Amino acid sequence: MVTSPLPTITLRNGTTIPRLGMGSWLMGETTSRRTDEIRSLQVGLDNGLRLIDTAEMYGNGRSESVVGEAIRGRRDDAFVVSKVLPHHSRYDDTIEACKRSLRALNTSHLDLYLLHWRGDVPLSETVRAFKALEKEGLILGWGVSNFDVRDMEELERCSQNAVANQILYSLLYRGTEFDLQEHNARHHVATMAYCPIGQGESELLQHPTLVSIAQRHKTHLGPATPAQIALAWTLRSPNIISIPKASTPSHQEQNIAALEITLTQEDLTELDRAFPPPRSKVSLAVI
Ligand SMILES: NC(=O)c1ccc[n+]([C@@H]2O[C@H](COP(=O)([O-])OP(=O)(O)OC[C@H]3O[C@@H](n4cnc5c(N)ncnc54)[C@H](OP(=O)(O)O)[C@@H]3O)[C@@H](O)[C@H]2O)c1
Repeated sequence: MVTSPLPTITLRNGTTIPRLGMGSWLMGETTSRRTDEIRSLQVGLDNGLRLIDTAEMYGNGRSESVVGEAIRGRRDDAFVVSKVLPHHSRYDDTIEACKRSLRALNTSHLDLYLLHWRGDVPLSETVRAFKALEKEGLILGWGVSNFDVRDMEELERCSQNAVANQILYSLLYRGTEFDLQEHNARHHVATMAYCPIGQGESELLQHPTLVSIAQRHKTHLGPATPAQIALAWTLRSPNIISIPKASTPSHQEQNIAALEITLTQEDLTELDRAFPPPRSKVSLAVI
């Protein structure tokens, strides 16, 4: 049950989507978890979330197949993002990889197709393939992932149409606040934050500052959790889409409830003290 309005972003191609999305890395890896994973994504869609992030790399298409099952019969509720591997990013390979992803997802189109990270293939060649896929209606937009400012500048020399740059961003990795996030915003490229809750690891979720801030907040589900604080923090900037992965309906509901949390100036100051923002250029961190 959503009890507060979903914050949205209008992408440069005119599509408006909620800024809270859903990741799916490692989904489809364990048969016994599959039903929960599908249900979790459906709980997100039932509550108005739309963006589901997957990639051909995730379990060699097994994550895409979980996503395909979650959106079956309700394709229009979802905004599906998949990614092509750098070693498939030659022109013909990109077209083939996209068609493979569409088959795994059992859908006619992707809402967004990203280059997973930069490889040796010239960006202009991959962009040409993205544009051909767009022309055919197989993708409705394209973008990149794990691109730092220099890569974005090079990309912008090929084309000004990238919709999003998906990057590592959480309290543990704030380096992109120095330049990349502002660069993306200035160029109308949405910043998509991956691993926003630190992959569920204790380094973030048991951090005393997060634990103590969580104690000052609540949602309709009860006392707030450190994961919800970490997630709410990533969503504080209007150009950020955050894509936590929740494999269970209960985690998905908690993530949606994080939208009820408004961090105070005091919370933000304490978080800055515990997880300092960058003071100079930091190379883009990647997981
Ligand atoms: N472009 C890239 O290179 C790249 C790289 C990494 C990730 N990604 C994308 O970003 C998504 C998110 O990253 P991630 O999955 O690595 O990490 P994450 O979203 O930061 O963390 C996921 C972990 O947190 C747990 N979790 C989820 N909701 C929770 C909650 N409310 N309370 C406590 N624990 C919770 C999950 O457990 P359960 O699974 O048990 O619910 C899982 O163990 C990925 O799934 C993928 O789609 C992209």
